[in-house]
Amino acid sequence: MRVAVGTDHRGYELRPKVIELVERLGHEVLDVGTFKPDPIDYPDIASIVAQKVGNGEVDRGILICGTGLGMCIAANKFPGVRAAPCHDDLTVEMSRRHNDANVLCLSADLLGERLIQRMVELWLSTPFDGGRHARRVEKIIQLEQHLHAEARSEAETQCHPRTQPADEKPDLLGGQSQQSSSR
Ligand code: RB5
Repeated sequence: MRVAVGTDHRGYELRPKVIELVERLGHEVLDVGTFKPDPIDYPDIASIVAQKVGNGEVDRGILICGTGLGMCIAANKFPGVRAAPCHDDLTVEMSRRHNDANVLCLSADLLGERLIQRMVELWLSTPFDGGRHARRVEKIIQLEQHLHAEARSEAETQCHPRTQPADEKPDLLGGQSQQSSSR
């Protein structure tokens, strides 16, 4: 699989270790940084990884920040992304088996390095169960498509307000308007 890996400054030291593991497991890594230990806002990194997962450039993403939460919140704004904040083997396993999570979000501050390594390995090797879970994930996808289509059409209406010709306007008075105005 192609896996994008990104961290903010809190995950800076873990990043090379996670990358090394993912590559050792036989995957191709796209390293999106951060490349310096200086503070960087987690949405900046989350959005790079999430965009690549959403558009299919990579199959999966791994994001690490202090708690794993900010990265997860930001990544889930992107269509096609199912990011899960995981903190043990069970949440890792279920995020794959039931939710088909495609982005794993981890806490650099709360999880030990060995646990993180085990979780990454488990997450990359656990398949989606499908079946009834596929129906539920499909509902998430539909919900997302619906909400994005709605937001797009609202934005288009705001950019290009449609001025309707009088004869196209809905007849809200049920044909009464002519009569009432002539009275
Ligand atoms: C950075 O201080 C911290 O807020 C960030 O790493 C993460 O924990 C956010 O959710």
